[in-house]
Amino acid sequence: MLTCLKIMVELVPMAILITNASEILTMTDGIGIVKNAAVLIEHGKIKAVGDVKPRKRDLMTINARGMVVCPGFVDSHTHLVYGGSREDEFAMRVEGMSYEEIAKAGGGIARTVESTRAASREELFSLGRHRLRRLVQHGTTTVEIKSGYGLSLTEEIKMLMVIKKLKKHSPLDIIATYLVHSIPRQMKRRDYVDLVTEEIIPEVTKRKCAVFCDIYCDKIAFRRKESMRILSTARTYGLGLKMHADQLSNSGGARLAATLSCTSADHLEYTSKNAIKAMCKTGVVPTLLPGATFYLQHKKIPDIKAYRKIGAPVAIASDYNPGSCMIYSMPTIIALACIVFGMRVEDALYGATIMGARALNLEHRIGSIEPGKQADIVILNVDNYKKIPYQFGEDVVRYTIKKGRILYGENR
Ligand code: NIG
Ligand code: FE
Repeated sequence: MLTCLKIMVELVPMAILITNASEILTMTDGIGIVKNAAVLIEHGKIKAVGDVKPRKRDLMTINARGMVVCPGFVDSHTHLVYGGSREDEFAMRVEGMSYEEIAKAGGGIARTVESTRAASREELFSLGRHRLRRLVQHGTTTVEIKSGYGLSLTEEIKMLMVIKKLKKHSPLDIIATYLVHSIPRQMKRRDYVDLVTEEIIPEVTKRKCAVFCDIYCDKIAFRRKESMRILSTARTYGLGLKMHADQLSNSGGARLAATLSCTSADHLEYTSKNAIKAMCKTGVVPTLLPGATFYLQHKKIPDIKAYRKIGAPVAIASDYNPGSCMIYSMPTIIALACIVFGMRVEDALYGATIMGARALNLEHRIGSIEPGKQADIVILNVDNYKKIPYQFGEDVVRYTIKKGRILYGENR
């Protein structure tokens, strides 16, 4: 009997030749399909793509016949480090209570703040490490991780130092973001904004524990003016800017992202056509999170047609977090982008790779398969790219390769 054995392997061959791929999705000119071709990897980088004739002998070969080769997935928005879980809120939502109602009744982010504060650095590190392994099994090679469940100087720094340690111990590229997520209980809005701008941001910069600063700008979180003050301060400290914008209401978040030329604005369910145009003009990467919309059963979806009309590609990401989306599999997120948001398959794949890289300012290094780029590659067990979302829910990832190292493979 043929048995299927999945193994986590960490091989470091000098060179790998991926041969006979039925499709290579280069993401160089749109999705950039090259059929029946090969990819040569040397010293952790992509050396050649297409009709490759390697001269070296000490070469490991992966026969990708009947498979699709794609850049490793770039998940540019997650809340992967947290303590506890909120399945009771999930149960309340399926019985009709909304995310906002639960938050107002003392649940939501505040619950995870309690359980994250209660967890030690070691516990958070071990939870994070376990979750990162799962990501690798689903083809993610680069991940952004936000803080935001600490809400005090000590606790936010605790989260960011855990992320820093994960970065040190994981083969993945990890990008840390300081997220200004919510106003802590028993604190006045004004005092918390002062604390963020006068103490937390300077400390984050001093410790070099985040690349970006993100703010949750919406009716249940920070106002436009507060967001403006916090992000402007973050910029003066050299942090890149991101926003959780217009998820629950049209709160002017995307417009502010355009004014500040943020690297990305994320969610965007309620963003108007004009704000979309403004964002695209100022180079903000619109980042859509279909997993959260689906998981929260929200009816309002981003204006996909507007992006298509102005020819602006979008990034898609998981938003993996214990409240609004427990999905960390990027193939599932790609399927949801198509099914829930009506995105074209090509655009969803583009969004999960090169656009994710742009949302992290990493497009010079990752997100596409072209000579000179880092060899971050996922090999999928489907013979054409449309089957990635079509085979919804199936485990389609056969190999995950990071910087030329096979992190995950399947032996048959
Ligand atoms: O991106 N919208 C705000 N923050 C998260 C949810 C966080 C939580 O519920 O714990 C999001 O959906
Ligand atoms: Fe989020």
